[in-house]
Amino acid sequence: MRRAVCPGSYDPITNGHLDIIGRASKLYDEVYVTVMINKSKKGLFTVDERIDLIRQVTSEFGNVRVESFHGLLVDYCKQRDIPAIVKGLRAVSDFDYELQMAQMNNGLTGVETLFVPTNPTYSFLSSSLVKEVAAWGGDVSHLLPDAVFDALSRRLREQ
Ligand code: PNS
Repeated sequence: MRRAVCPGSYDPITNGHLDIIGRASKLYDEVYVTVMINKSKKGLFTVDERIDLIRQVTSEFGNVRVESFHGLLVDYCKQRDIPAIVKGLRAVSDFDYELQMAQMNNGLTGVETLFVPTNPTYSFLSSSLVKEVAAWGGDVSHLLPDAVFDALSRRLREQ
């Protein structure tokens, strides 16, 4: 069974994430989409809400499991016997930090990181930008799955 993980904050999942997860799901038998918990960062969505949204929008792939983890990504990979991390690269600006993490993770346990070039349609897309634009009333409906757009609109109205 070939396994990979697509880790992230997913606050919330965007069409850019979904593109990478969908592509990973074609390359691997089982793809874990894992919300890495960062207690020092307060999200717009709770970890359970993020998981619920990711489950809704990845169910069509059929081989995606969604969960959360608090700790080092390499420890998660060991626990689950996952040899590969799949990450999307949007632009050269992502590369420096992603390379550092990939090299650190590989040095720690030998886990490999595979970089997938993001679809150019989403090269500017991040959860933070989407939240900022939406908070100021900008239209982000084309950047998010419908269920996520609805959840984001509701959450911003509540605030
Ligand atoms: O969606 P993000 O916030 O860009 O994802 C970054 C994430 C969560 C994948 C990264 O910060 C991470 O792997 N965190 C888990 C803690 C860890 O292993 N840190 C050491 C990285 S070398």
